[in-house]
Amino acid sequence: MLEELEQIERQALSTLETVQDEEALQLWKVTYLGRSSPLMKTFDQLGGLPKEERPATGRRANQVKRALEAAWETKGENLRQTSIQRTLQSERLDVTLPGRPVARGGLHPTTLTLRRIYRIFSDMGFQVYRSREVESDEYNFELLNIPAHHPARDMWDTFYTTDPGVSLRPHTSPGQIHVMRQYAPEPIRVILPGMCYRYEQISARKEIQFNQVEGLAVGKDLTMGDLKGTLIDFARRMFSPEVRTRFRASHFPFTEPSAEMDIECFLCGGAGCRVCQGSGWLEILGCGMVHPLVLRNGGYDPEKSMGFAFGIGPERITMLRHHIEDIRYFWMNDMRFLEQF
Ligand code: PHE
Repeated sequence: MLEELEQIERQALSTLETVQDEEALQLWKVTYLGRSSPLMKTFDQLGGLPKEERPATGRRANQVKRALEAAWETKGENLRQTSIQRTLQSERLDVTLPGRPVARGGLHPTTLTLRRIYRIFSDMGFQVYRSREVESDEYNFELLNIPAHHPARDMWDTFYTTDPGVSLRPHTSPGQIHVMRQYAPEPIRVILPGMCYRYEQISARKEIQFNQVEGLAVGKDLTMGDLKGTLIDFARRMFSPEVRTRFRASHFPFTEPSAEMDIECFLCGGAGCRVCQGSGWLEILGCGMVHPLVLRNGGYDPEKSMGFAFGIGPERITMLRHHIEDIRYFWMNDMRFLEQF
């Protein structure tokens, strides 16, 4: 019997050496330590032994059992360690590697220009005032000295709604009336940025939807000199300190006198080219001294107050600054265009 136990132990331990995974280990346990294993059977047979052999055999059987259990435990632990090591090797992570770049969005070129405009005018003491995009005929035209049926309405191809007297604003000038009525008779220095809509044939130069930045100053003793100084300063900060400017007489029903401001063509330097259509100059805004009638409509006494106003096209300025040849790019949402800013 003792001889048999030696053999069981030797065989079990040598088989254990060949075990490579959890599954084989489980099988090994059933074979050598399970209910019907040769070792367990020897316990059953103890009773049939001569009395004097029983204690030694029993002790030996228990030793073998403990030895096999210990060996099983150690083996299991080893297997688990190896498997952890293997995972660590194969799923290695180098935390010192530089990260992958995350694509970041950018601001729309018009937004960038708008922010620059806000910056320049806020440095000169102008505040930003938001006015509505859906306007009444009264504010769009009547109060700005453009009566119904007046040919001047032709300057603004307006989108009318089915609601009589309600339209999308074709320019930001109606905002002048809103600001004046809110602040009269106090002095004002504001810019009014926002979207405008016109019923146009869309082309490289014309869109049905675009931004304007209206400017309005009302106070005592304001002159055309103040208007010119403000706008020349604006052009210098927007384009370059050396930029040359000129004012051309023009006409708007709500300003008197009226003018348009040009900057020297940056492409040809004034010699005349395709961009400036041979003139050497590029128009950037309309402006003028606020018409007395408009001042009165805003709640000011034109005998006591003066004002100047201007209207800038941010898309146009963006096109000039970045040499963009087609205004339709602004609404195309083409990433190849947008990513360049
Ligand atoms: N509202 C005019 C336009 O849309 C621009 C303008 C604004 C002119 C203010 C003079 C004064 O063309």
